[in-house]
Amino acid sequence: MMLKKAAILGHPVRHSLSPMIHDYWIKAHGLSGTYETIDVLPEDLVSSVRKIFDDGYTGFNVTLPHKEAVMDCCDVVDDTARLIGAVNTLSLSQGRIVGSNTDAKGFIANLREQYPGWDPSAGAALVLGAGGAARAVIYGLQQAGVKDIILCNRTRARAEKITDSFVNLTIMDWEDRNNAAQAASLIVNTTSLGMAGKDHLVLDLPSGPGCVAYDIVYRPLMTEFLVQAQQKGLPFVTGLGMLLHQARFSFEAWFGILPDIDTVLRDQVTKAAQEQ
Ligand code: ATR
Repeated sequence: MMLKKAAILGHPVRHSLSPMIHDYWIKAHGLSGTYETIDVLPEDLVSSVRKIFDDGYTGFNVTLPHKEAVMDCCDVVDDTARLIGAVNTLSLSQGRIVGSNTDAKGFIANLREQYPGWDPSAGAALVLGAGGAARAVIYGLQQAGVKDIILCNRTRARAEKITDSFVNLTIMDWEDRNNAAQAASLIVNTTSLGMAGKDHLVLDLPSGPGCVAYDIVYRPLMTEFLVQAQQKGLPFVTGLGMLLHQARFSFEAWFGILPDIDTVLRDQVTKAAQEQ
C-alpha cells in the first residue's frame, strides 16, 4: 500500500486537534498514511505549498492565518471555496493543486447530526459575525435551502461586504440583535465571543423549542450562549462536531473514504479540547 502523507499548515498550529482526528481514521481504516502539523509563516506560504507537494504529499488542510492567502497557491479554486473566500483543504487532481472548503458541509452535517429534525424552511436564520466562519455558515445554510438569513455584525460594513457574494441577506445592526433573535428559528454564533478568555455573547433568546441555538465556538464546549439556550428549553448544537465533520470531508478528498465519527473519537477529541 502506498504511503499517503497529509498535514495541516498554520501559524501557530501545534494545538490543532486535526492530527488526532485524521490519525484515528487512518488507523481505523488500516491505511498507510500520516498527518502532520507544519508551522508556516505567512511569508513562506507560497514556497511551502510547492515544497509540500514536491515532497509527495497527497494534500493538506490550512488554518489560520492562511485560509485566504492560500487561494493564490492553487491552480483551481472550486466554486464553494471561491464564494466563501477561503480554502481549508488542498489536494491534487491530475497534477493540479485544487483548493476547496469543507467548513460549510461540516457546519450543516453537524447541525443535522445533533438536531435531526432541523427544517431549513422553518424560518429565518440569524447569523452573528461576519468573518470567514460566517461566510462558510451562510454558504452552508443557503445550500441547505434556507431562504431568509439575517446577518448581524459589530462592524456593519463588514456584514454589508458579504452581500457582494451572497444574495437574500438582511443586514441588521449589532445593537438590534435581540430583536432579530426573537423571530429566528436558528441562531448561529460565528463570532469569537464565548471563546475561553473572551467576553460572553450577550443575547436575549426567544423562549420555547421553536428556535435552535448553534455555537461554532468549541472551547468551551458549552458556551454561556448555549447554557442560556439550554436553560430556556431551546434545542442547541455545540461546535466541536463542525470540526469533526469538516475533517471527514477533507479525509475523503485525500483517502477516498468518508469516515464516521464514533463515540471513541468524539470523546477523545472532546477531552483534548477541554484540556487545552
Ligand atoms: P473568523 O474568520 O474565524 O470568522 P474573524 O474574521 O476574526 O474570525 O471574525 C471574528 C468575528 O467576531 C467578527 O465578526 C467580529 O466582529 P467585527 O467584524 O466587528 O470585528 C466578531 N467579534 C469579535 N469580537 C467581538 C466583540 N467583542 N463583540 C462583537 N463581535 C465581536
